[in-house]
Amino acid sequence: MDKINRQITLASRPIGWPKESDFKLIESPIPVPGPSQVLIRTLFLSVDPYMRGRMNDRASYADPVKLGAVMTGGAVGQVVHSNLAKFPNGSYVQGMLGWQDFVMSDGSDLHRVNRELAPLSAYLGVLGMPGLTAFFGLLDIGQPKPGETVLISGAAGAVGSIAGQIAKLQGCRVIGVAGTDEKVRFLIDKLGFDAAFNYRSETNYFAKLKELCPQGIDVYFDNVGGELTDAALHYLNVHARICVCGQISQYNLTEPELGPRLLWKLIEKRAKVQGFLVMDYAPRFREGFTQLAEWLGTGELQHRESIIDGLENAPKAFLGMLHGENIGKQIVRVSQPETGASSFL
Ligand SMILES: NC(=O)c1ccc[n+]([C@@H]2O[C@H](COP(=O)([O-])OP(=O)(O)OC[C@H]3O[C@@H](n4cnc5c(N)ncnc54)[C@H](OP(=O)(O)O)[C@@H]3O)[C@@H](O)[C@H]2O)c1
Repeated sequence: MDKINRQITLASRPIGWPKESDFKLIESPIPVPGPSQVLIRTLFLSVDPYMRGRMNDRASYADPVKLGAVMTGGAVGQVVHSNLAKFPNGSYVQGMLGWQDFVMSDGSDLHRVNRELAPLSAYLGVLGMPGLTAFFGLLDIGQPKPGETVLISGAAGAVGSIAGQIAKLQGCRVIGVAGTDEKVRFLIDKLGFDAAFNYRSETNYFAKLKELCPQGIDVYFDNVGGELTDAALHYLNVHARICVCGQISQYNLTEPELGPRLLWKLIEKRAKVQGFLVMDYAPRFREGFTQLAEWLGTGELQHRESIIDGLENAPKAFLGMLHGENIGKQIVRVSQPETGASSFL
């Protein structure tokens, strides 16, 4: 094994759509953990839409990544040298490990993950941040009731695919919106959505929503914003709930988009709109995790991943995800777990 640590750093701040040259792969020596520290080898890395915001010089709700610094990111890794009893050699952990082969930690930001319960990569998707986002966003803010109509945008992605299935588990009629015909088929055939459409090929969102939501929309779980959301507001039912999870259609705009002014629709329908950050629910993560793991175990929840191999391909995976190349959770497989518990150093 080569004892070099490859790291992917932020080389420049994008204007508009990011590109591969905004990242730079550098090599440095593998850090040597001190007392009360562990060395972790990254196994699976998550690429997420929020990282686009961290590439700006002023992220809105979290610190930006500094130029030249390692890109931030959640990952699952294996402890390869431990000076901490809580995280012995060979154990699997999840944390903000960053886009790199190896990272050192004092353990304060790590959680043990159980490989027997689910594949390790699932802790970055259905059992990780995206799954918890879907769980709390839909159930706490959306409060779906049996028989209601739930519309999910970004429906075939990490968060949307779980939110839609949870809505089905609540007895709702679920309509998904996604960017390819393959994704639409996946939502209906594999995840049991009642209907779905491709927003890239559909020209009239108003007509399509009217056709697919004849009883109106009671809960709108919005991952994308933009024109689709403008159209969805026209079909809200009285006392509808809108969970504003993400606005990915806006993340790479260089000028803010001026949409129609539709807040009056909320008055007419006495609708409730609430934005949220999954971290707001950190004190309740155990509750969400337990339920998601149970549904996963019983097969009531399906999870899909798109996996790209190699740390060097993390920028490609990230850009591909922004362009909609993923179905389900986009993951980068960085290395394979080792069996045994001997120290790597
Ligand atoms: N509030 C929170 O705490 C929180 C936490 C996690 C994620 N989020 C947000 O939730 C959303 C989904 O995140 P995720 O991790 O599950 O990502 P994801 O859906 O797995 O991947 C992003 C997807 O966005 C879609 N997309 C890209 N550009 C689009 C556009 N212009 N219009 C419509 N769809 C577009 C693409 O699918 P298509 O092929 O369908 O275009 C792409 O696959 C994002 O907006 C993210 O920022 C919020």
